[in-house]
Amino acid sequence: MKKKSRGHKASRKTWASAIRKKLIQAARNAQKNSYSPYSRYPVGAAVLAESGRIYTGCNVENASFGLACCAERVAVFNAVSHGEKKLRAVCVAAKSARPCGACRQVLHEFSPDIQVFMAGAKGQVKTRKLKQLLPDSFGPKTLKNK
Ligand code: THU
Repeated sequence: MKKKSRGHKASRKTWASAIRKKLIQAARNAQKNSYSPYSRYPVGAAVLAESGRIYTGCNVENASFGLACCAERVAVFNAVSHGEKKLRAVCVAAKSARPCGACRQVLHEFSPDIQVFMAGAKGQVKTRKLKQLLPDSFGPKTLKNK
């Protein structure tokens, strides 16, 4: 019997869920490299750039506590330093995964429409749009309208 060919919509859905899975796995792998001896709160992040490439980061702390950098920012800066300017999705992996306010602002600079996946310790994944997490945002467009 001839196999029914799947429509564009269905294959796009399969592709999106495969990418999502890959992004979550990348964030969870990056979490293993966390340098967090002070908080003992390891975080990993992975961003999917417009190019289709994935860039990762983990939180990196310091004996001078204020110098700690969040996993999401490390991942975003990693992407940008490889020439990426537009990011499609980000996944943060932690016990109680959610991007802090500073990281929401940094994500907004490059992609106000970015999709945010929050992968918790128990395997649960929450999905939000950055717009939901950072309403009435301040960004490059705000400065242009000054
Ligand atoms: N942390 C992140 O990496 N991302 C966040 O969005 C929240 C907090 C890190 C910073 C610090 O190393 C540890 O988690 C505890 O705050």
